[in-house]
Amino acid sequence: MAIYRAPGRVNLIGEHTDYNDGFVMPVAIDRYTTVTADVRVDRRLTVRSDAYEGLAEIDLDKPGDGPAGSWSDYVRGVAAVLERKGQRLRGAQLAIASTVPLGAGLSSSAALEVSTGFALLDLAGYAIDRTALALACQQAEHEFAGTRCGLMDQFIACHGRAGHAVLLDTRSLDAVWLPLPADVQVIVCNTMTRHSLASDGYNERRADCEAGVRALAVRMPRIRALRDVTFSDLEANRDVLPDRVYRRCRHVVTENGRTLSAADALRDGDLARFGVLMGASHASLRDDYEVVTRELDVMVEAAMEVEGTIGARMTGGGFGGCTVNLVRAEAAADFVARVREKYAARTGRTPDIYACVASDGVGPAAPAIDSRGARS
Ligand code: GLA
Repeated sequence: MAIYRAPGRVNLIGEHTDYNDGFVMPVAIDRYTTVTADVRVDRRLTVRSDAYEGLAEIDLDKPGDGPAGSWSDYVRGVAAVLERKGQRLRGAQLAIASTVPLGAGLSSSAALEVSTGFALLDLAGYAIDRTALALACQQAEHEFAGTRCGLMDQFIACHGRAGHAVLLDTRSLDAVWLPLPADVQVIVCNTMTRHSLASDGYNERRADCEAGVRALAVRMPRIRALRDVTFSDLEANRDVLPDRVYRRCRHVVTENGRTLSAADALRDGDLARFGVLMGASHASLRDDYEVVTRELDVMVEAAMEVEGTIGARMTGGGFGGCTVNLVRAEAAADFVARVREKYAARTGRTPDIYACVASDGVGPAAPAIDSRGARS
């Protein structure tokens, strides 16, 4: 028996930039999807999950090429993409358990894809190229889950590092690991809401960005993505863009600038500046990108009223889900109590709030040991 785990993530800044060849700054968190695996002699995968009923079966010789509408599509997708890339996998019995909340914008799907992919490659005896694994998992998400996501979530699940955020250039895939100050706590607040059309909204935003690039490319033939557009280019060519597309582009262009400035602020130890940039990111996601719900806004507002909060913003795709907060460590306990109370009073919902530890990416996990000292 072998056990593997991959972390969920929270993104500090750089939202909806990864499918525009831009910059992101995620952190892997200490919430994991764990895969317990036993090899089989045949080429079948049997998969159980603690979150869903039933046993899924996947034939590695015929994994299929698109969604079947089941929770196991992620596993099937990863297996199918790896096989297609020439990796010959072995059959296995897989049991999946997760402490990453599902559908809360903390990247539970990437944690599932990456932990499964790592397990399947390791069981088959392959040396694992983490970036190649992230790319395969992203492809599985596109083809088998129907979300045209960028690479951020799969990349951080593979490349997270304890105590660090990662500044990733999603075009070159150059990554810089930035140490997080020890006296700052990363806190995630779950609004406990999620819009049922989140995936459609996500794909629509991506389509708007692509429409923006096509329109701007008539004047600026060298651009390949919004990454290549400066703020002054955008302003000078505003007349070729419908208003909605212009605002989507303005978010992406300014968010790339904020993310690079935030990396400088972190390097300089200028947390106040980092916090201001988080606030500007949230406002841009609300006003220009229109992915912030009332609950996300209320949560950010509540956080900013608490003494010791450095910055707060929505995190992930939006349309509900979570906020990320940087809080002075000594104020963390007070933050949790006060934000919980304020959010509940204003929305009638009790939020889950997680104080997170920046963690390592995917890898083998030690077996859990129960209170009697027995290994499971
Ligand atoms: C989701 C996607 C990511 C990224 C974020 C928004 O989490 O999976 O690729 O686009 O939304 O920043």
